[in-house]
Amino acid sequence: MPKLSIRDLELANKRVLIRVDFNVPLKDGVITDDTRIRETLPTIEYALRHKAKVILCSHLGRPKGKPVESMSLRPLVARLRLLLDHVYSSSENVAFSPDCVGEIAMEMSSQLESGQTLLLENLRFHKEEESNDPEFAAKLAALCDVYVNDAFGSAHRAHASTEGITHFVSQSAAGLLMEKELNFLGKVLTEPDRPFVAIIGGSKISGKIDVIDNLLDKADTLLIGGGMAYTFLNAQGQSTGKSLIEADKVDVAKAALAKAKAKGVNLLLPVDHILADKFAADAKTQIFSGDGPFPSELMALDIGPATIDIFAKEIAGARTILWNGPMGVFELAPFAHGTNAIAEFVAANDDATSIVGGGDSVAAVHQAGVTARITHISTGGGASLEFLEGKTLPGVAALTDK
Ligand code: 3PG
Repeated sequence: MPKLSIRDLELANKRVLIRVDFNVPLKDGVITDDTRIRETLPTIEYALRHKAKVILCSHLGRPKGKPVESMSLRPLVARLRLLLDHVYSSSENVAFSPDCVGEIAMEMSSQLESGQTLLLENLRFHKEEESNDPEFAAKLAALCDVYVNDAFGSAHRAHASTEGITHFVSQSAAGLLMEKELNFLGKVLTEPDRPFVAIIGGSKISGKIDVIDNLLDKADTLLIGGGMAYTFLNAQGQSTGKSLIEADKVDVAKAALAKAKAKGVNLLLPVDHILADKFAADAKTQIFSGDGPFPSELMALDIGPATIDIFAKEIAGARTILWNGPMGVFELAPFAHGTNAIAEFVAANDDATSIVGGGDSVAAVHQAGVTARITHISTGGGASLEFLEGKTLPGVAALTDK
């Protein structure tokens, strides 16, 4: 990495502000998935073991610049205490500041002792966070001696806590999670072991076309599933019944198909489908071979068994697998099979480096019980997409060069 890492910093007795992405799902104040917290533990523990005074800051949700109780980070304190209990002699060592800047945050951060942790309230309770206000960034910087960004999931945002603050601290370094994400995703784009098979799904081409375009320069094989496949099939002249079509993206799909051909990329679309009479869990379904026009009153909501076989063979022969986006309407049980099967096949290839990103594909991996067999599961949604599009992430660019 051309940027400073937390491992390059002198941490003992220093106040270290770590920007984390604790944007976790909460239901009635209860954390329903703490993956993002657990993934940050190596960085927090590293800092604590090196006798730092740790200050954690994050956003949660989109409160639009005002305090919103349901988006408070306070409920995370108990979970942090639990997760960090083994590092401390006393789990009381995680404190909470009800504001991320101002007198209270200043006082609590200045009273921290080595090995103690302070969690700050939601950064986005101040509108200046998202507007990247320099005065606000300077207030955050005043809380610390050095700054560490471990929030890969927010690295595509040029906010005060991810970008602005770096102008007011002497050293800005990547945390261990940030480094891990950049290493795995970076290797995919720069020197993947081949064959490199990318699996891209999801409902719309519009959200993924830049990723597809960039991957057409890098991958050997591109497997396309999900709703977006039907705009591609449409671009090939197939009539696809009531399946989702982005009419204004048919030309974009045609251009991608032409680029794949010109580059010699093996771009594969579904050859059979699960058709339904409505978008519902109790829909009447049938397997359709994909030969000829689709019945006009039916819509495709998942890939069919022949497609799964073809995709499985490509996945089995890969040395690098990148997967982003479901193969069908994964949230409805009758249309989850394609996505779950892909999760199994990706996990079954022990010879490949497998990287999974995006909420639904990550959920499918968890649901299939194969999480431990995936090489890297990205904590970034939008951030991993922008990285795979080949864009520079402002939160990374702003870190201090080595
Ligand atoms: C995410 O969940 O993708 C990140 O935490 C960023 O959240 P945002 O899209 O609200 O900026």
